Amino acid sequence: MSEPILEVSGLTACYGMISALKGIGFYVNDNEIVGIVGPNGAGKTTLLESIAGSMHIKEGQINFLGHQIERWPVLKRRQLGLMLVPQEGNIFPLMSVKKNLEVSVILSNRAKKEELIDRVYKLFPVLWEKRRQIANTLSGGQQKMLAVGIGIASNAKVMLIDEPSIGLAPKLVTKLFETLKKIKEDTRTTIVLSEQNIKVLNIADRLFGLEAGEIRFDEKTENLSRDVVKDLYLGSIS
Ligand SMILES: Nc1ncnc2c1ncn2[C@@H]1O[C@H](COP(=O)(O)OP(=O)(O)OP(=O)(O)O)[C@@H](O)[C@H]1O
Ligand SMILES: [Mg+2]
Repeated sequence: MSEPILEVSGLTACYGMISALKGIGFYVNDNEIVGIVGPNGAGKTTLLESIAGSMHIKEGQINFLGHQIERWPVLKRRQLGLMLVPQEGNIFPLMSVKKNLEVSVILSNRAKKEELIDRVYKLFPVLWEKRRQIANTLSGGQQKMLAVGIGIASNAKVMLIDEPSIGLAPKLVTKLFETLKKIKEDTRTTIVLSEQNIKVLNIADRLFGLEAGEIRFDEKTENLSRDVVKDLYLGSIS
């Protein structure tokens, strides 16, 4: 069993008087896919943003690759390999697909520029076909692929992906999830994704159940009953 590469303890975060995370403990091992499941308002986005650094936390520790990072700014966390793919707004809308990927590489490993961008095109051939197209003219699904592609081009060690299935047709969800699995296998990237789509059970090694700002369970996916998880945490989305 490998050591956690990302570990969160006693994490508390608030929006004014609203307590969104109430002392969360959470960890991810190297080269795992971990799903965070929970109903609307559970705190999934707040947790991912707290780890990435875009949400101010009240209390708690975040350890990433042996560094205590909870007071680090977003960019410094990103340079160490921690990257948030938010639900929206991760792409440069007025740049071409190619330029989006090139800019992302600059923030990480320039020496591996061609290799990293090729990797994205291999995983998402449609981005190669559309490489000259301006990003905000892509379809919603293609923009989501580009957002994940930016994470890969940035050479992220851990990608935190917030509800990637939202707004995608069922077939595209299946395809995107298969690609996430391939990313894990081919590039050894660790993936944390928040989801309300039942298909997360097909790709996650482990699931955390989050409800009202608290962790309700942490289980290997194979030990979880599909129906219980579906009823409690995944609503009726199929
Ligand atoms: N900007 C904000 N101002 C005030 N309260 C907020 C804000 N953002 C989130 N909250 C509250 O914090 C709690 C957690 O919200 P969060 O967005 O993290 O949940 P979530 O699990 O991502 O939900 P969803 O599945 O709808 O995306 C909710 O009670 C929500 O109403
Ligand atoms: Mg959310």
